[in-house]
Amino acid sequence: MEPVIPDLRGAPKTEAYARLCEMQRLLLDESTDAIAGMATTSTLLHHAFQHLWTGFYRVIKPDRLLRVGPYQGSLGCLDITFGRGVCGTAAAERRTVVVNDVHAFPGHIACDARSRSEIVVPVFGAHDALIGVLDIDSAELAMFNDADVAGLEALVTWFRTADV
Ligand code: SME
Repeated sequence: MEPVIPDLRGAPKTEAYARLCEMQRLLLDESTDAIAGMATTSTLLHHAFQHLWTGFYRVIKPDRLLRVGPYQGSLGCLDITFGRGVCGTAAAERRTVVVNDVHAFPGHIACDARSRSEIVVPVFGAHDALIGVLDIDSAELAMFNDADVAGLEALVTWFRTADV
């Protein structure tokens, strides 16, 4: 039986991410499959923090197109061009993007009208190839800080071991 995902909404973020990272490594110990990793990682994060949307966009055409991958939450749009929105910006610039107020971000793609803040982290596979981005949307303004950046960047290092 798989372990129950803890509700970490009240926990200090650094501890919360450390706990999720430990669970992720245990659950994915036998896997080198990127989709299995995306499904497991998005489920852990979504149930622990209960944000609006937690999931992955995958690189379909390098430097051109992202397509939705495993996610949890409300419906996400299917395709995002590199350079568009928060996800496309993070992918094009290969860096984590934190947006405290999505209404102030030019070109933000609104998949859910309740979204107020967002974090997008690039995901690198073997040989430093960009394989996608991890996107989390919150209904609260300025939900994400340096602890989220550090915790999420640590979680996605798993994908360097994935067979993509
Ligand atoms: N808001 C994102 C689009 C993806 S969804 O919100 C799930 C963006 O601007 O990239």
